[in-house]
Order: sequence, then C-alpha cells, then structure tokens
Amino acid sequence: MANAKNERTFIMVKPDGVQRGVVGDVLHRFERRGYKLVALKMIQAPKVLLESHYAEHKGKKFYEPLLTYIGSGPVVAMVWEGLNIVSVGRKMLGATDPAKSEPGTIRGDYGIVTGRNIVHGSDSETSAQREIDLWFRPDEINQWPHTAEKWIY
Ligand code: PPS
Repeated sequence: MANAKNERTFIMVKPDGVQRGVVGDVLHRFERRGYKLVALKMIQAPKVLLESHYAEHKGKKFYEPLLTYIGSGPVVAMVWEGLNIVSVGRKMLGATDPAKSEPGTIRGDYGIVTGRNIVHGSDSETSAQREIDLWFRPDEINQWPHTAEKWIY
C-alpha cells in the first residue's frame, strides 16, 4: 500500500450480529474511532464463498459448524481504511472467544461463546487483501475524502 493511512481491513458482522441488531453499533464504533468506511454490503454468502474465506480451517472440528453458522443468514461485509486498521480493528473486536474479550470490545460487550462471536476481522494485511478480494469487486470499493482526517492525523 502506498500510504499507511490507506491500510484496509475486512470486517464482517456475522448473522447473529445482524439478527441481534448490532450492525449500527459496529459501524458507529469504527466511525467514532476515526476510520473510513470504503465498502459495505449485506449478503447471504453462498457456501463456495465461505469455503474460500475459511479455507485455512478446513478439516478442523469447528469448520462445518462455522460454515453453517455464517451461512445461516445475511452478513454485513465492510472494508474499513486507516492507519493500523488491521491491528486496531482486531482490538476493537476483542478476542475470538468472547469469554476472553475485555468489556468495551464488541465481543466483550455482546458475546458469550466463540460459536456466536458477532463479528469477523482480518488478522493481517495479507489476509485483509485476500478477504477484500473475495467479498468485493474493485468497483465496489470507494475512494472519498474524509473531511475530519486532518483532525485525526
Ligand atoms: S485457529 O484454529 O486458532 O486458527 O482458529 P481461530 O483463529 O481461533 O478461529 C478461526 C475461525 O473459526 C471460528 N471458530 C469457531 N466458530 C464456531 N465454533 C467454534 N467452536 C469455533 N472456533 C473457532 C473463529 O471465530 C474464527 O472465525 P472468525 O470469523 O475469524 O471469527
């Protein structure tokens, strides 16, 4: 990436998060933090997409239940942009197991078990690029001037 401020991550509100009505809160947290939303869509993910997204976990005990869970309803897929968004985004989500997530994080505020952990966030810049390419076409990613940016950086 040319500019560190343009680092991107893939964030997804999972079906439990959508059905419990926390989409707005997830968006709000990232907006308030100062990050820039550059892509957003609600999608009932086809199995083939989920198989690609979670390919590294194929064969693990939780793989099939995970695909069933994420495929059980629409998700809200997003691309967020900004300095250190991959690592900061993961902190904002909390630990994978909500029982280990600090209060104040998304999973720490809304989740109880890993199998219903509300949100997904890319774990590295490489994963982020792979996931963004899987879920979004290039023309679905927007570039726009963030007017508050000069007060953030
Ligand atoms: S591993 O084996 O350490 O790499 O796995 P981990 O990073 O902890 O989790 C990988 C993704 O699988 C989800 N997961 C589960 N889903 C449902 N049920 C169970 N038991 C379970 N265990 C792990 C976990 O939330 C990760 O998905 P994302 O979408 O990244 O949160």
